[in-house]
Amino acid sequence: MNYLSQEKIKEIRDSVDIVDVISNYVSLTPKGKNYFGVCPFHDDNNPSMSVNRDKKIYKCFSCGATGTVFKFIMDYENITFIEAVKKVADFGGLNINIGNIPKIKTNNKLYEIYDLSLKFYINNINTAAGKEAKEYLNKRNINEEIIKEFQIGLALNDKDKLSQLLLKRFDEKDVLKSALVNKNAYGYLDLFYDRILFPLHDLKGNVIAYSGRIYNREDNSKYFNTRETEIFKKGEILYNYHRAKDIARQKNQVIIMEGFMDVIRAYTIGVKNVVATMGTAVTKEQATLIKKMAKEIILCFDGDEAGAKATMACADELIKLGVTPKVIRLDHNMDPDEYITKYGKDFETKINNPINIMDFKLQYLKHDKNLSSTVDEAKYVNEAIKEIQKIDDDILKELTIKKITQETNLDESIIRNKITPNKTKIKKTPKSKTKTNTKIDKYEIAQRNLIFYMLRSPEVIKMYNNKVTYMPKEEYRMLAREIKIFYNNEGYIKEADLIDSVECDEDVLKALSKVEEANLNEKYSIEEIEDYIKVIRDYNVKNEIKRLTAKMKDELDPIKKAEVAQKIIDLKKESNNV
Ligand code: UTP
Ligand code: MN
Repeated sequence: MNYLSQEKIKEIRDSVDIVDVISNYVSLTPKGKNYFGVCPFHDDNNPSMSVNRDKKIYKCFSCGATGTVFKFIMDYENITFIEAVKKVADFGGLNINIGNIPKIKTNNKLYEIYDLSLKFYINNINTAAGKEAKEYLNKRNINEEIIKEFQIGLALNDKDKLSQLLLKRFDEKDVLKSALVNKNAYGYLDLFYDRILFPLHDLKGNVIAYSGRIYNREDNSKYFNTRETEIFKKGEILYNYHRAKDIARQKNQVIIMEGFMDVIRAYTIGVKNVVATMGTAVTKEQATLIKKMAKEIILCFDGDEAGAKATMACADELIKLGVTPKVIRLDHNMDPDEYITKYGKDFETKINNPINIMDFKLQYLKHDKNLSSTVDEAKYVNEAIKEIQKIDDDILKELTIKKITQETNLDESIIRNKITPNKTKIKKTPKSKTKTNTKIDKYEIAQRNLIFYMLRSPEVIKMYNNKVTYMPKEEYRMLAREIKIFYNNEGYIKEADLIDSVECDEDVLKALSKVEEANLNEKYSIEEIEDYIKVIRDYNVKNEIKRLTAKMKDELDPIKKAEVAQKIIDLKKESNNV
């Protein structure tokens, strides 16, 4: 059983200070009653996120992200509510037994299909037929322990064994959707054969795809990967993310490599804060993930030309998010796998002495140029200036300008003049009250403001219960319902508790975020509340009149028609009276 009572969840949440916990992830500065920091949930460099210690809630004025300490950790670490609760309990030093955290509930059969296929492939590698694959791995210095840890499996050359196994347990349509099985005129065919399989996981640690390496035959492609499916989007994952994220967080450092063999090799010398991009250009999603993993980000791509190019591209993706990565370059075109195989633990010296990104970039820009040629030199300076303009770090900018000046004997002012003043990033100002208000009509304002006060006062909840039929707008209706349920069960109302009672439900939080934008005076008058209720009822009555009028027009039976007409008259009376 993993059931945790509301009280327990509250106790866990109250065992920590939300400011302390969030400070572990982003730096916060006090300002008035609140703390402010840069929101990690959207691209920003401004401190748009406020954390309120008393309310135990954070809120971003720019993107609207809001919630309790649980929600923050859920989103930051891509984990479930219950996992976040466990983390907070650990943080607060509470010794609670939540038991085994269940895998995320999902009704997608593909996860089950992948779970079963993994068992099947792992079993294969441990049979007599897997001997050659084991020998291959052992020759590459991958021992039993590593094979287990990375759940390395094997597809044999037996055509349709996995297909048959899966079809016995799952619907054909799901099996085909998994992209592990092909169907043709002759029957079913396993997609992987004669390959060593490296399972790929999503951020939560579910197996969602494989990359298969040849080991006993020639083939055009060294690796063959599962195609994208409902659950596998290559650009949204990083190899080894789910294993590395906690260690990266603790060390506040993450190392990015290209291949998963590199990552696996790093493990053999105990370097575990490492993920791989798997040989494709880094996407914005991946860069965002990396940014959230740790403060110090070290790119350690292959030592060849392609690796240098990939480093440039990955760095730029990170720089766009305001991150300044560091770089490790490996000599003799080696990749991390080869380097570690050759030098072992000495790789750590590399980790401890990364070069800064601008030094790397200058080096890269020079590699195909001859600086004693004026043409090349001019080209170099122009390219370097472009790179300087991309970065946010002022000190690094200054140092780089100095470096280029020394290298080229150009006058510093010439370089400076070419650098256009910092691309003035448009400061995202918190949405002003009036701006939001003009966008929404008075009915929406009434609903929003009414909920704003329901969240603060049982008196208002009761008034709503007694008078309003329902909130016209779906999201407010849902939120009002949740408030009512919470109040009926608990006998009080508090936003943070409400949020946790619905396990940080995304829809509830979205609606709450909108409501809090009202930013009203904490004090209200009964007349004000009555006025909101009147506006809402008015709206409902008018809508009902509209509906009935349409119905009356369509009604053929004169008696029924008269009934509807009477209803309309009654409603009109009511709307004048409320
Ligand atoms: P590499 O070619 O550097 O692989 O590609 P590697 O790590 O050195 O592999 P080994 O040592 O030869 O076994 C880096 C990454 O690019 C992807 C894989 O994810 C690999 O880890 N890749 C590479 C493919 O998807 N397909 C390929 O054919 C090659
Ligand atoms: Mn390699």
